[in-house]
Amino acid sequence: MCGIIGYVGRNAATPVLLGGLRRLEYRGYDSAGLTIQQAGGLRTLRAVGKVARLADKVRAEWVEAEVAAGHAGIAHTRWATHGAPTEANAHPHSDATGRIRLVHNGIIENYRHIRAKLEAKGHVFASETDTEALVRLIGEYHKGDLRQAVIAALRRVEGAYGIAVLSAAEPGVIVVARKGSPLVIGVGEGECLVASDPAALVAHTRRVIYLDDGDVARVTADSVDITDLDHAPIDREIAELTFEAGAVEKGGHAHFMLKEIHEQPETVGNALRGRLDLVNGTAVLSGMGATARELLDFQRVVMVGCGTSLHAGMVGEFALEELAAIHAEVQPAAEFRYRNPLVDGRDLVVAISQSGETADTLAAVREAKDKGAVVMGLVNVVGSAIARETGRGVYLHAGPEISVASTKAFTGQVAVLLLMALKFGRGRRLSGERGQALAAEIARLPKLIEAVLAQDAAIAAVAARMAGHDHAFFLGRGPMHPVALEGALKLKEISYVHAEGYHAAELKHGPIALLTPGMPVVVLANRSPVLDKVLGNAEECRARGARVIAVVTDGGPPVAVADDVIRIPDCDPLVATIPAAVALQLLAYHVARLRDCPIDQPRNLAKSGTVE
Ligand code: F6R
Repeated sequence: MCGIIGYVGRNAATPVLLGGLRRLEYRGYDSAGLTIQQAGGLRTLRAVGKVARLADKVRAEWVEAEVAAGHAGIAHTRWATHGAPTEANAHPHSDATGRIRLVHNGIIENYRHIRAKLEAKGHVFASETDTEALVRLIGEYHKGDLRQAVIAALRRVEGAYGIAVLSAAEPGVIVVARKGSPLVIGVGEGECLVASDPAALVAHTRRVIYLDDGDVARVTADSVDITDLDHAPIDREIAELTFEAGAVEKGGHAHFMLKEIHEQPETVGNALRGRLDLVNGTAVLSGMGATARELLDFQRVVMVGCGTSLHAGMVGEFALEELAAIHAEVQPAAEFRYRNPLVDGRDLVVAISQSGETADTLAAVREAKDKGAVVMGLVNVVGSAIARETGRGVYLHAGPEISVASTKAFTGQVAVLLLMALKFGRGRRLSGERGQALAAEIARLPKLIEAVLAQDAAIAAVAARMAGHDHAFFLGRGPMHPVALEGALKLKEISYVHAEGYHAAELKHGPIALLTPGMPVVVLANRSPVLDKVLGNAEECRARGARVIAVVTDGGPPVAVADDVIRIPDCDPLVATIPAAVALQLLAYHVARLRDCPIDQPRNLAKSGTVE
């Protein structure tokens, strides 16, 4: 959560920092602030609310000459963890002298202890944050060398951090450090940037250095000097960003979410590219590093993830069991890490994460490794913590996902899980013929998604009839059950409609009591071996006056109980999870648009849960 950007170089820092904050706003947007370094010392401005409020404040309170004079600065956009979103709690925070400022992502777990000790020495805290304890501690250790002071303080803190620090005494220097919260340095011509996300850098440079846990870097306009917490020098390679600046722009769409929904023919195509072997009916996933023999030896596949990534894992569970006849299960990462999971060297644990930084999923990876399981990542962000710690796995290649509500990552995850199931299946019991048929179906996915996107206007019309309701159900069975959960999650997070995803057969065991006349019930009623059962469940809702919105297979038999119909193209029931999910993404999007919600930045949310 939260976003960090820092700049040092030949240009005025303030416009670069504000531009970077706008790019990072999806990581947290309840308050923002910046500090720039000037001849007279450090100047800080902070504001509650969106970055635009901070920009207004800069225009109102700083004269142009001041803005132009600051060539180094740090800035932050916040998602509150400790302390309400107030100006006092917004970053940057200051040490006792006012000559050191710091921005921080993560959580300092022993901050109460540090705070109590500092208060006993006479410090008077200005905020309720854990961050202020860290910057005050740095101030205590500061004897003229900022990096040394930062290291001394970091050696005494427990928890997770990505930080950027400025000192009035060292013009043109930013000190950054990371542990458990991402930080990347952009290396330009006569300028360097630091950020919690490369999306904020790509407009300035494509050359980046990813910091690892334990790294501390002293960054100037033309140097990056990295050490560990024992002051030992560290060499990190410069990598090239693979996405274009346009990938982090809306590209003519009203929202990032809509853009990302419409990118899915391409992003799913990227996830499949070079990985489908249509002749042998299998998948080529070299990143898994598993031989056919190893695949046979696994006794179980355990998938872990959170939120949308967890739902993708649930689809994967069906695919793996059906195609590969291997015991597969999915667990919320937050549960897995604390339940003393029963995994060992015969189990494959697959960590599913768009960001690759989700704290619970990362902790689950560590737990699984400690228990001796073989661990793989199914990750979108290249070079992220989970990608690095797993060391093997499959990238989604979906490009940056900016909208807080995950869309293209979900379809990429399901596509890759289908490939994994195919590969496992062919290594175990799946016939060549069935493998070929399925590979051909998977290869159609970009076209299947296009066919759903082409119905945007029809889905918007269905949304218009739904938008006035504050409650909704989403029902599905088999692999469509997780799609129902995902459809409900999308709707609730961006439109604030209370939506429940349910197994269609479970409704009558309690929740059906909630049905009231006119309540929208979205039923995933595509071609599948359980279609008759699903239609029976839809009847039960209709009989209680609910408004049934059926997601049906184009060309399939008419669904008499449906008040509204959304069509997805005919395809294999496992493959159909992806076009069905796209239809529900569009439905949620249009409901949220009609309810006038801030779609890309829903209240209380932020992209990427880097705290527990
Ligand atoms: C919902 C959403 C979240 C994430 C979850 C895991 O739209 O985006 O539920 O799926 O926070 O994030 P990653 O996949 O980055 O680990």
